[in-house]
Amino acid sequence: MPDTKYVLAIDQGTTSTRAIVFDHSGQIVESGQIEHEQIFPRAGWVEHNAEEIWKNTREVVGLALTRANLTYKDLAAVGITNQRETAVVWDRTTGKPVYNAIVWQDTRTQKIADELGALGGGADRYKAKVGLPLATYFSGPKIKWILDNVDGARAKAEAGDLAFGNTDSWVLWNMTGGVDGGVHVTDPTNASRTMLMNLDTLTWNEDIANDMGIPLSMLPEIKSSSEVYGHGREGGMVPGVPIAGILGDQQAATFGQACFEVGHAKNTYGTGNFMLINTGTEPIPSKNGLLTTVCYKIGDQPTVYALEGSIAVTGSLVQWLRDNLGLISSAPEIEQLAKTVDDNGGAYFVPAFSGLFAPYWRSDARGALVGLTRFVNKGHIARAALEATAFQTREVLDAMNADSGVDLTELKVDGGMVQDELLMQFQADILGVTVIRPKVAETTALGAAYAAGIAVGFWNGEQDVIDNWAEDKRWEPQMDDAERDRQFRLWKKAVTKTFDWVD
Ligand code: G3P
Repeated sequence: MPDTKYVLAIDQGTTSTRAIVFDHSGQIVESGQIEHEQIFPRAGWVEHNAEEIWKNTREVVGLALTRANLTYKDLAAVGITNQRETAVVWDRTTGKPVYNAIVWQDTRTQKIADELGALGGGADRYKAKVGLPLATYFSGPKIKWILDNVDGARAKAEAGDLAFGNTDSWVLWNMTGGVDGGVHVTDPTNASRTMLMNLDTLTWNEDIANDMGIPLSMLPEIKSSSEVYGHGREGGMVPGVPIAGILGDQQAATFGQACFEVGHAKNTYGTGNFMLINTGTEPIPSKNGLLTTVCYKIGDQPTVYALEGSIAVTGSLVQWLRDNLGLISSAPEIEQLAKTVDDNGGAYFVPAFSGLFAPYWRSDARGALVGLTRFVNKGHIARAALEATAFQTREVLDAMNADSGVDLTELKVDGGMVQDELLMQFQADILGVTVIRPKVAETTALGAAYAAGIAVGFWNGEQDVIDNWAEDKRWEPQMDDAERDRQFRLWKKAVTKTFDWVD
């Protein structure tokens, strides 16, 4: 493979879309990033404009290539990674979305989830097949909401005119030609977040689709996470370049962190936090509020599964303090503000803005800031906000230890918030395990680049990923056990104050 070649990853995330060029050693060459609008039409509703996302995708690819002084001819392949569960439904003929993308954080499908559970089996009705509890988080009920509520959508869907995808499929379809023959494909990591895919066979489950009134013709073809799906369309930003990798963002980070052995785990600190542990080639059901999900499937190799602890609100709490309260003017400032005090002053902030995900799955929960006295100032609130990320992660880690029967002794971390040293030290303290940050903390994009590069022979396989992985910094726990237990006990008490807030 000539070393003039590079791999481009597109990371279509919840708050922004990024394109990153990687070289053969897995190092970042250049990147481009544009945020998109967060649309909140009502309390609990979160939408994105899918056309804006596609426009931004084109722009960030151009930005990354220009900054790197490269053209599409220098690219061996393109990989896509994405916010999972977010549902886009578009018209195959016009190429236009029929409604805004309904974002994973959106809670409008609570009634649909309850009604499906009432058909029998309650929240666990589909769990044995798809690994997920009925909750507002997943794509299937969001598709149903669109078909039920957008004029003419159901008739069009039944006539085969509508297509559904998470944003991976939306970007891929547009990149490969859109209305002029775009390929309509997803990978098993994304499909495993719809509630519609059988975990064991990686095929769509007709019965569940029927329960939700979703015609199978809307759904993308499920291919592996690493193979050539199509090529950039002529006249597009990467004409003729193979598009050869798709991984949901959390699975991509797991791959980029080289978690290839059973028991290897990573935690990504983004809009939310997502901890995944590789469980090998069999799906393992959770007894402790975790999701069973596909970790990756490379070409025709066996499917690898994971248990996942999903936390809806971590980094987005910092954004909320910035955008809704004006407490800080940029997200990284939270660390400076938190450092103005020695501790949380007794304040605990449970950001149950989308209900609570793992391990509780309480859609009736709403956010709470408790333990307030006149002593508490904005430094304490900043600190409580950061600590919320660490406490929620502790709850997920406890669930993982309980499910696996083995206590994790170290945790690989990545994502934007891992630059926050105060948070990382507190994370190690409250977990009581070593926290390790890699040199390339953008492991989400890196994982997608590897999946694409492996498909075209740019990288040979997982050993290249392992060889390229390098540690940057580690944090050892410094808090004594009694203090850790005291703080965690108070956190758990604070969590109970968030329950039962929806009429
Ligand atoms: O499941 C949602 C997740 O994929 C979103 O990740 O990094 O965009 O917050 P992120």
